[in-house]
Amino acid sequence: MRRIIVAGNWKMNKTNQEVTDFFTQLKEEIKSLNLNNVSPIIAPPFIYLQNAQQIANDTEIKLSAQDISEHDFGAYTGEVSAPMLKSINVEYSIVGHSERREYHNEIDMQVGIKAQKLIDNGITPIICVGEKENEREMGMTESVILSQLKLIFDEMKAVDPTKIIIAYEPVWAIGTGKTATPHMAQEVHKIIRQWLAKNISNEAANQIPILYGGSVKPDNFEELLSQKDIDGGLIGGASLKIDDYMSLLNTATKISK
Ligand code: 13P
Repeated sequence: MRRIIVAGNWKMNKTNQEVTDFFTQLKEEIKSLNLNNVSPIIAPPFIYLQNAQQIANDTEIKLSAQDISEHDFGAYTGEVSAPMLKSINVEYSIVGHSERREYHNEIDMQVGIKAQKLIDNGITPIICVGEKENEREMGMTESVILSQLKLIFDEMKAVDPTKIIIAYEPVWAIGTGKTATPHMAQEVHKIIRQWLAKNISNEAANQIPILYGGSVKPDNFEELLSQKDIDGGLIGGASLKIDDYMSLLNTATKISK
């Protein structure tokens, strides 16, 4: 059975005090949950990772970065690398988020290079793929997703399925309130799993968690999670509020039983 991942992507939000308050409260409230097979992950901005980690230290809550550099060290002003994350024991990083692709012109090849850098440093990449609205309207969803997967995985060496997470985030559903219906999301998750079986291994297809992201809220999470190939969420807006995030975790623990 694959674990259920409830990953919050905080994007560029919160002050240091707000981060402290959120993690202090989460640490307390999470004690009442039987997390079983559920993994809570939060991706705050880089500068808060260590503060958050210190608070979450002896809990099930894991930290993730939102992106990393393609390089290890050197003259790359403003960037943060995988070896740096490793040196502070961060266990996950998102790569290829559509906002990185859109505002920083990131392409699939770079996403693959970044994912491999993370793996080389013992960090699990959360690899994002997803089609834009016009691509879906033109019936191109499947071909876009398959092309993204191919170009990303072409840059990666031997794949350890226990050390990779994929997130399907339809770009048109991010921050818009438009969620893909559970059926629409399931269709794409199934396509991703079939691609993994054919191109990587059956083990990869069975073990790699595939998260859905795009306007996940407490009131639609249960139905999304009940789909066969949806193993959790990559959640923006709703992960910023402690009550909503706790509610998402609650739903996940119910489903995992
Ligand atoms: P929202 O949940 O705010 O739509 O954001 C989704 C997302 O981009 C998570 O990475």
